[in-house]
Amino acid sequence: MIVLVGFMGAGKTTIGGLLAARLKLPFADSDQVIEQRAGRSVRQIFAEDGEPAFRALEHQVIADLLDGPEMIIALGGGAAEHPQTQAKLGLGAQVVYLQVGYDRALRRVGGDAGRPMLARPDLAALYERRLPVYARVATLAVQTDGRHPETVTDDIVTRVVPDSTAVVEGLGRAGRGTGPA
Ligand code: S3P
Repeated sequence: MIVLVGFMGAGKTTIGGLLAARLKLPFADSDQVIEQRAGRSVRQIFAEDGEPAFRALEHQVIADLLDGPEMIIALGGGAAEHPQTQAKLGLGAQVVYLQVGYDRALRRVGGDAGRPMLARPDLAALYERRLPVYARVATLAVQTDGRHPETVTDDIVTRVVPDSTAVVEGLGRAGRGTGPA
C-alpha cells in the first residue's frame, strides 16, 4: 500500500494519479470515497454534520481502503491527525509525505469553497501543527515546491515499490527502501 499524506495543496491527488498510472495500481482519493459513501460533498458533510462526524467517517473510509487490495491512496490533509488512522498506517503501509510550503499551498488551493478548512482563521497554526504529524507517519518525504508533478512522481517511483513481490524497473527487491538506485 502506498499512501500519500500532506497539507491541502501538496498535490496528493495529482501525484497519486500519476503514481498509480506508473505503477499500474488502482488509485483512491479518500475525499472522493467519502463523498461517494455519504452521497454528499465534503463541504456539505462539514456544514451539516460538523468536523468530528467528518473525521469519524474519514477514518472508517481509510481503514477500509487500507484493508483492501494493494493500491495508491491519497489522504485528505487532516486525516493523518487521527490517532487510529496513524496506528493503521503503522502496520506496513509505505507513507509518502508530500511537502509543500504554506504560501505555495495557499496559492494552489486558496479560495476553494470545497475545502472548508481553508476558512479557518487559524489555518497557519494548523499547518504548523500538522507538519510534525506528517513527518512522523511518513516512511518517505518528498519536496514538491517548484517541482513538476511528473518529477515528484519519478522521485517516488525510485524510492518505493507497490508490494513485496513487485519489482520497479531498475530497482530490484534488494533495493527496496534504500533510495535511488
Ligand atoms: C482537509 C483537507 C481536504 C478534505 C477536507 C479537510 C483538511 O483534503 O479532506 O476538506 O483538514 O486539511 P485535501 O488535503 O485533499 O484538500
